[in-house]
Amino acid sequence: MKKELIFVIFCVSTTFISLVTIVKINIINNTKLELKYLHNTNKNFSLIKFIIEPKCNSNFVVWIVTSPASDPLYRTALRRAYPNEMLKSLNITRVFLLGMPKEESKWEYINQESQQYNDLLQGDFLESYRNLTLKHLMGLRWASSNCRSTFLIKTDNDIVLDVFEMLKLLQKKTINENAIAGYVLRKMKPIRISNNKWFVTNEDFSGDVYPDFLSGWFYVTSLKVAQLLVYASEKIKNFLWIDDVFITGILRQEYDIKIEELNSLFATDYRYLECCIRDKKRKLKCEFIAGPDGDKKELHIKFKEFSEYCQWNCSERMKKQLVSKTCVATYEKKINIINSKVQVHYI
Ligand SMILES: *[C@@H]1O[C@H](CO)[C@@H](O)[C@H](O)[C@H]1NC(C)=O
Ligand SMILES: *[C@@H]1O[C@H](CO)[C@@H](O)[C@H](O)[C@H]1NC(C)=O
Ligand SMILES: *[C@@H]1O[C@H](CO)[C@@H](O)[C@H](O)[C@H]1NC(C)=O
Ligand SMILES: *[C@@H]1O[C@H](CO)[C@@H](O)[C@H](O)[C@H]1NC(C)=O
Repeated sequence: MKKELIFVIFCVSTTFISLVTIVKINIINNTKLELKYLHNTNKNFSLIKFIIEPKCNSNFVVWIVTSPASDPLYRTALRRAYPNEMLKSLNITRVFLLGMPKEESKWEYINQESQQYNDLLQGDFLESYRNLTLKHLMGLRWASSNCRSTFLIKTDNDIVLDVFEMLKLLQKKTINENAIAGYVLRKMKPIRISNNKWFVTNEDFSGDVYPDFLSGWFYVTSLKVAQLLVYASEKIKNFLWIDDVFITGILRQEYDIKIEELNSLFATDYRYLECCIRDKKRKLKCEFIAGPDGDKKELHIKFKEFSEYCQWNCSERMKKQLVSKTCVATYEKKINIINSKVQVHYI
């Protein structure tokens, strides 16, 4: 009788111990789960050299914008919307992130552009969408070692941003300094269609699902968190060329940085922003503070004029007045999100 009891206790406790071990191992594995799905390279991102390096004067926000080196028109539109002097008065420094264009003939032009505006940061890597991770990390590394700002904003250069509302959010401390906030994409799957520009091979990423990440379209974080992401990139040797998955998904997890969803502030269709502008006379705020420009560079300028007017003069929209409910773009929203999200926003 006694022996049997001891045996039962023995069995129960061994089961318990092994269960605990399994659970523990799973927890440990889970935090670094995605690393094993990636290429292991010998790249060291801290070795990227700057060819052109601007100054960082802002003490509140540094705003980094990925921009195709040989296409200055986007930069022109953004500078027309928010001139550097204006940003300076708002304590914001904006820099455009560039690689080296293949054509040497373009280099001189970029030098001139930099001398005129002092807002270009150029790295010594080839400009290519496959090098976007290098470009994005270059921006974070430059900002964390050159700026004294509290916050960092990252956008692509075809994203329209209401800087005034953004500043209000930051000043009201609605954004957690220990997190990254932006357009969150959850449980996204790699594109496995081989003739797609964004085709991801098994060697690139062998998992089925990406960790939750923020679209590179638009995110905001503290400089402190940006610094952690840079540390993470120097610590590991793995690499994925899809910059937002790698940086705001995989590197983020290395330091357990949380994400915050600002999806309701991001228009997934440029026509919502147009609807807000058209409505200006009614003095209603737009419910969105950012969105794609729909390849219309004028939209940057028009939305800025609207935002400036509205920062003091407009009231919040009531539920039934939301452009997402009243604007014609509604029916296309789903298509944009599902089919082109992971594809479109890297271009
Ligand atoms: C810019 O930062 C300085 C110093 O922190 C502060 O005194 C000033 O009010 C800020 N200006 C704006 C427009 O936020
Ligand atoms: C990325 O940049 C490096 C350095 O210039 C270059 O050797 C490499 O070919 C580029 N990668 C792609 C895919 O263009
Ligand atoms: C990359 O280089 C930096 C210094 O340049 C070094 O501190 C870091 O350990 C290196 N990272 C790796 C993974 O070798
Ligand atoms: C607010 O509206 C008035 C007239 O309605 C206009 O004169 C003023 O410029 C507007 N404010 C801003 C910041 O645009």
